[in-house]
Amino acid sequence: MAFSRLPLFENNVNRRSLLRGLGGVGAGAILASLPACSSRMSDDATVTPEGSPVASPSVGQPSAELRSKNGLLQANLRIAPGMVAFGTGVRWALTVNGQTPGPTLFAAPGDHLSITLDNQSGHSTNLHTHGLQVSPTGKADNPFIEIPNGTAYVYEIDIPKRHPGGTFWYHPHFHHHVAEQLFAGFFGLIVVEDAVDALPAVAGAVQRTLILHDTRIGATESAVMSTTPMAQRDGREGDVLVNGLREPAFEARSDRLERWRVLNASASRFYRLSLDGHAFFVIATDANRLAEPARVETLTLVPGERVEVLVQHERGGSFALKSLPVSRGSMGTNPESKLATFNVSEGGSAPPLPATVAAFSDLSTVVPLMTRQVVFSMQGQMGGARFLIDGKEFDSSRVDVKVARGTTEDWVIRNTSPMDHPFHLHVWPFQVIEQSAAGTPMRAWKDVVNVPANGSVRLRIPFLEITGKTVFHCHILDHEDAGMMAVIEVS
Ligand code: C2O
Ligand code: CU
Ligand code: CU
Repeated sequence: MAFSRLPLFENNVNRRSLLRGLGGVGAGAILASLPACSSRMSDDATVTPEGSPVASPSVGQPSAELRSKNGLLQANLRIAPGMVAFGTGVRWALTVNGQTPGPTLFAAPGDHLSITLDNQSGHSTNLHTHGLQVSPTGKADNPFIEIPNGTAYVYEIDIPKRHPGGTFWYHPHFHHHVAEQLFAGFFGLIVVEDAVDALPAVAGAVQRTLILHDTRIGATESAVMSTTPMAQRDGREGDVLVNGLREPAFEARSDRLERWRVLNASASRFYRLSLDGHAFFVIATDANRLAEPARVETLTLVPGERVEVLVQHERGGSFALKSLPVSRGSMGTNPESKLATFNVSEGGSAPPLPATVAAFSDLSTVVPLMTRQVVFSMQGQMGGARFLIDGKEFDSSRVDVKVARGTTEDWVIRNTSPMDHPFHLHVWPFQVIEQSAAGTPMRAWKDVVNVPANGSVRLRIPFLEITGKTVFHCHILDHEDAGMMAVIEVS
């Protein structure tokens, strides 16, 4: 087997650092001796030609980049099993073009996305552009499409001219199989760039993407995908990876600002991030930018949430990026864990932060047309748990909520269960007006918000412009797969 044909080199690690990781022994021999590797290598595995760009973790980008040209982003995403490197070995994953995370798609407001999803995964799947404020109908961000194994489907998505810039992402949305396919590695970022990206402080910063994901590290599909009724009830968790790597180390400089785009791409896991000795300055949340940088000590991200932050290193040294203890209800607390290390070189201090970021339309004084109540509940225990919205399991042939286009509504989401459930609505972002047990919510545009166990949130949602039928659901994907999802139609 030719060395350059090993798909594991496509995953996020440049060849030099992988060889270094293998300790200078003849790498070919070691790789050839990996049983998981040899049994899974096949000639039809996606192979990146020798010399094509593979991002190094030290520059902070997780994967290949696909950019729009002249208003068009033409992308081919091939979903297939493969072996990928994660820093200290190789593992089985469901890859996107041989990688996980998949390539980052870069586009601008007004662009057209033409995305061919080539499904070689072995199962039916589809594609959702989480957070994009685009049509959910036809060949666009339509979660009701099924792409059978062995077939390809071309998505055609228009990003409106007035679409905000920010950090979005793609992942599968084929009902009953979302958790396992995402857990296995099928996801990637979508970046919409606008004037904020050109602000001198932002454009001059070191650009870093931190994609948090957890999976089971295993050599076969069944080792990674197999689960238990209990794990599905709680929401499956695994070993945490950053940009597909186990505890990566990043090189940084004290004389540069950093701009991070952070995504929680885990199926269930919550993170509460802290960087030793640093604060974070939030410039954007899920669905849009803030008016000005907001200083926080920690960043809590529930599944599906994104945040853009500026980071100022005040001095050189080695700093741990940790996830602090965090609980999501009755299942206990995840302990503190180290996710990555930043090695910051001495020499000069970072430039100042920008005073303002973007224009922000605050909905707190807007009077909603109506207030709707939505109840997330669980019934039963252990293997037999049922996950319900307004007492019902998901049914794609039913419309649960009808909304008139052009109106603004308040939604009060009540969680009557002893477990947290992150609420997510496709297409139409909202502002959080109240959130129990969380203090005053940040004035920000969101598309995911945690609804605490036995708690509630009040959201204000403008249903402007876009019409069509789509879904809202719990973003603990095992709960979504179990039926904690409902259909909304805006017309
Ligand atoms: Cu991340 Cu229904 O989506
Ligand atoms: Cu979504
Ligand atoms: Cu849930």
